[in-house]
Amino acid sequence: MKDRKIIFSGIQPSGDLTLGNYLGAIINWIPLQEEYNCIYSIVDLHALTVRQTPAELRKRTRSLLALYIACGLDPEKNILFVQSHNSAHAELAWILDCYTYMGELNRMTQFKEKAQKHAENINAGLFTYPVLMAADILLYQADMVPVGDDQRQHLEITRDIAQRFNNIYGDVFKVPEPYIPKVGARIMSLQEPEKKMSKSDENSNSYISLLDDPNVIIKKFKRAVTDSEVQVRYDVDNKPGISNLMSIYASVTGKSYEEIESEFEGKGYGDFKLAVGQVVADTLKPIQEKHKELMENKDYLDQIMKDGVERAGRLSYRTLRKVYKKIGLVPRP
Ligand code: TYM
Repeated sequence: MKDRKIIFSGIQPSGDLTLGNYLGAIINWIPLQEEYNCIYSIVDLHALTVRQTPAELRKRTRSLLALYIACGLDPEKNILFVQSHNSAHAELAWILDCYTYMGELNRMTQFKEKAQKHAENINAGLFTYPVLMAADILLYQADMVPVGDDQRQHLEITRDIAQRFNNIYGDVFKVPEPYIPKVGARIMSLQEPEKKMSKSDENSNSYISLLDDPNVIIKKFKRAVTDSEVQVRYDVDNKPGISNLMSIYASVTGKSYEEIESEFEGKGYGDFKLAVGQVVADTLKPIQEKHKELMENKDYLDQIMKDGVERAGRLSYRTLRKVYKKIGLVPRP
């Protein structure tokens, strides 16, 4: 690998990828591949914290790899791999569990939300989820972690765990910085704009799947909940629906909110919603075509996974060995 700073991030294969995942995460990963050593994982072990159908999980894991590539991540320039293929993640997670406090994990808002949503399955994995995430990041000595706003708290706990460990054993882990975009870090539901857009939402009108048909995308934007005014204006508190559509439009086109306001001055919400739908459908079309083509090429995807985990494995075992040694585990003879 070239001597560059290291980036690590991941997405769970727990449902169709949404426009939120795309704008909050993937779209920002694309330019990074030119300047950093980037490692992107499909974090299937994290997905197990919610009950999955095995055949679907397998399919979605491959599909997510195909999407990474279809969105523009070059498998030569980036390390793309499946988390469960590298056992170092689960191993380091166990060690870090022993350096993380119950009280810290209890404060995680995502845990509280998920526990409420899956009241019938509040498993220990759901609780220790941020520790596995810390292991993902710290194994690679990542400098930066590009994520959406909802992962901010998990990044903070990762830093706390790393610092605590370093205070006891010396500089073992790089303490990573979050990298959160200014626009698009929190894409909201199209139906309830006070809520985050989520792939696990029961109402499929509330999110755009990256694999939605263009007509469906336009229809979903037409149905997006807005307010009773007529002016396209950015005001999150009073106009959450329109502001969310503006974030989406800004993120995809690169336009500023002022530019968007003047573009739609004197026009109604109908025109604006159609424009947002159209630009999103146009952006996703080539991605969908490429994804389809890749999904037909199983051998190619397998080869990428194989190369990816070999490269990831080498890097992570350096850290894992160091950790084992520092904490006093006897090296395997
Ligand atoms: P996940 O799979 O829920 O989401 C993947 C990425 O998409 C971002 N995101 C959003 N951004 C903007 N608006 C939204 N509505 C939206 N919904 C999701 C997330 O912030 C994330 O960047 N715990 C992580 C996965 C993970 C990880 C890691 C990430 C595991 N290990 C190590 C970074 C580093 C998660 O559940 O993401």
